[in-house]
Amino acid sequence: MTTVGLIGSGNIGGTVARLAVAAGHDVVLSNSRGPETLKDLVDELGPRARAATPAEAAAAGDLVVVTIPLRAYRDVPAGPLAGKVVIDTNNYYPDRDGRFPELDDESTTTSELLQRHLPGSRVVKGFNNIYFEHLRALARPSGAEDRTALPIAGDDPAAKATVSAFLDSLGYEAVDVGPLAEGWRFQRDTTAYAGLYAADGDWTRPVPVDAERLRAALAAARRYADS
Ligand SMILES: NC(=O)c1ccc[n+]([C@@H]2O[C@H](COP(=O)([O-])OP(=O)(O)OC[C@H]3O[C@@H](n4cnc5c(N)ncnc54)[C@H](OP(=O)(O)O)[C@@H]3O)[C@@H](O)[C@H]2O)c1
Repeated sequence: MTTVGLIGSGNIGGTVARLAVAAGHDVVLSNSRGPETLKDLVDELGPRARAATPAEAAAAGDLVVVTIPLRAYRDVPAGPLAGKVVIDTNNYYPDRDGRFPELDDESTTTSELLQRHLPGSRVVKGFNNIYFEHLRALARPSGAEDRTALPIAGDDPAAKATVSAFLDSLGYEAVDVGPLAEGWRFQRDTTAYAGLYAADGDWTRPVPVDAERLRAALAAARRYADS
């Protein structure tokens, strides 16, 4: 059992929190507007959940999930996250986030930006390539035949092992894609991005994706400039 800190408690943060509580973890939720605005979600989640500020959620978590619009990544409190494993769900949508030249020219990746902002933390990219409703729907216990695989990337093997175990507890198999620099393989608009988990492009029909199929999609991924 783990205490999961959430910086961001929207579509993905709320879904990870629901899966985490269902798996027996405790969660500390946070957002930009303040803990009082998370009362409904805390009430729904029950005694394993509480709401706090981002700094408090960061300090409380054994594992912390950063799940906010990328444009706000510099707001993530670095001090209380020092020494911790941080899962980064963030994706780059220029229409929402504004332009990041270093992402546009592909000289870095989103999770490397967060890692640079959190030099004392061990960032693992995860939960980026699945629509939140599919994330909720496709969770299956270990050993289920229709279990779904999700990619992770990170520079620290022990941190990736921690995140793999966390994903396993939530109902997913982790596929290690390599270091953070390889995270582009499941960024927006690649073959391994969210449409992979929608049956025949129908987003109302989530479809399980096993590790073999995910690996094939990751291997076929092309950088924006090459696609
Ligand atoms: N939606 C998906 O299916 C999906 C799938 C995979 C990855 N992602 C990525 O995951 C990230 C989160 O997506 P989402 O759909 O969950 O977004 P969302 O529903 O808009 O939720 C964003 C959350 O971040 C909080 N937030 C915003 N600025 C913040 C700040 N400066 N400090 C602390 N919290 C802040 C928001 O709080 P307030 O409401 O109080 O501002 C809200 O709780 C995005 O980068 C997205 O691209 C999304």
